[in-house]
Amino acid sequence: MTPEQVRREEELSATVLASFEATPDVRLRTVLTSLTEHLHAFVREVRLSEDEWQAAIDFLTATGHITDERRQEFILLSDVLGISMQTVTVNNAAHGEATESTVVGPFFAAQSPRIENGDDLAAGAPGEPCWVEGTVTDTSGRPVSAARLDVWEADDEGRYDVQYSDGRTTARAHLFTDRSGAYRFWALTPTPYPIPDDGPVGALLKATNRSPMRVPHLHFKASADGLRTLVTHAFVRGAELAGDSVFGVRESLVRDFQRLPPDAPTPDGRVIESDSWTRARFDIVLAPLPG
Ligand code: BEZ
Ligand code: FE
Repeated sequence: MTPEQVRREEELSATVLASFEATPDVRLRTVLTSLTEHLHAFVREVRLSEDEWQAAIDFLTATGHITDERRQEFILLSDVLGISMQTVTVNNAAHGEATESTVVGPFFAAQSPRIENGDDLAAGAPGEPCWVEGTVTDTSGRPVSAARLDVWEADDEGRYDVQYSDGRTTARAHLFTDRSGAYRFWALTPTPYPIPDDGPVGALLKATNRSPMRVPHLHFKASADGLRTLVTHAFVRGAELAGDSVFGVRESLVRDFQRLPPDAPTPDGRVIESDSWTRARFDIVLAPLPG
């Protein structure tokens, strides 16, 4: 590149950066300045062609067109680029033994049935029964009683209840830890499922030889007075090696889901009608509130 070409490119970036200097909101100015610096550096580094620029505009336009109140393709794009997980990581700083956070995903619902400890949250969704138990403690090891746990998962066909057409609520519930900080419930053994891949994000995954599959997981949101709310998953050991399309796996969140025959005694005497069942332990440690 000639010195004159470099001068023109640098001058343009500097002019755009200067245009944000009078932004009254300091945080907005910081974010827009940094974004401009990175985007200009990107365009110059890859020598973005005008056809590539148009392809990017077309991709984002298609992402907007497929998005509605049930389908959020922009979040999916953020997920497969690892931006969602990086934002989670930045905002949930490591703190002692506190359980690591991961992505919330699009299938959380603020309203869910309340169950008692020992109940089955599957509510008729198809899948292998899975007994899940654990404790909630703070980082000093003190049990947290009355912590609220929201739990949600896909059925064994990889579908969440919100994806059913009949509006029924299954495989999601909330419950509270008992006086010793313990909890227990029946659920379904998590199975692998693809993120929605029939839109532009699916095309991106295809063009880059990437799988849409998520590692089998059970979603948890744990909240308690005076402690940092945790959004996380329990992942099934073994399956995590296949890789996760949204980069949500943390080694510390991988658990053994022990598979047992139907005649193995269940913790609460439940009679198992399927060929097998599993059990897993997921102890949760909540960090203090930041600040
Ligand atoms: C989920 O785990 O439910 C999920 C997360 C990110 C994208 C799609 C689904
Ligand atoms: Fe999920």
